[in-house]
Amino acid sequence: MPNMSDSYQDSKPLKVAVLVSGSGSNLQVLIDAMKAGSLPIEIVGVISNVKEAYAVTRAEQADIPVTVLSHITEGENAGKRMGIKTFERHATAQLNSWQPDLIVLAGFMRVLSADFIDGAPAPMINLHPSLLPKYKGLDTHERVLASDDTHHGCSVHVVTAELDAGQVLTQALLAIDKQNSPEQLQKRVQKLEHKILPWTILLITKGVLDIEAINAQQQSSEYLPALPLQLWLDN
Ligand code: GRF
Repeated sequence: MPNMSDSYQDSKPLKVAVLVSGSGSNLQVLIDAMKAGSLPIEIVGVISNVKEAYAVTRAEQADIPVTVLSHITEGENAGKRMGIKTFERHATAQLNSWQPDLIVLAGFMRVLSADFIDGAPAPMINLHPSLLPKYKGLDTHERVLASDDTHHGCSVHVVTAELDAGQVLTQALLAIDKQNSPEQLQKRVQKLEHKILPWTILLITKGVLDIEAINAQQQSSEYLPALPLQLWLDN
């Protein structure tokens, strides 16, 4: 009979591609967890649509292949925006060459087309700074502070063609302090993001969350509570 701990150690790490646009603090958490051996993943590549994003530096420092598909072109067409179709064509070719098992949007700020999402070589998840289905889109912290809500947080959800509308897998929650500025609240939520993203990916690597089955509405286990799995991580 196979020894369980051996089979875990022998099993291949989950190949993860990460799409970024910003500082990449969530990418850094994944890099650190991978290097520490606490998350059985291999980050096979990073795509940034912003050349100056600090996430690019983080990937380079960790010796992870990075592709910059800047939405601002240089040379003759300087300042012109790369169309989403062009971005997606290059991104698809790059992802196909990396053959990831999972694509993670971690602070990726472009809206992707249905064709790109449906044709992607792996399931895709996104980190969103609100408790979906509340506050889809931008300025989530400002909007929650202007509401009567008592709590806030972040969600990891499956990416589908409809913006921020795929199945929510996990959420981390905190109590709103009305004295907080949007910036203070954003910092508090980001601390939660740094916990919920690796936790969610860990659940995926262990097969607890099976995105393909979830998309086919087949994920069911008598041991799992209904999705989303929520963690109260007040800080
Ligand atoms: C996160 O706060 C995420 O919620 C939002 O963009 C931010 C990315 O942060 N969509 P970082 O680039 O991972 O530091």
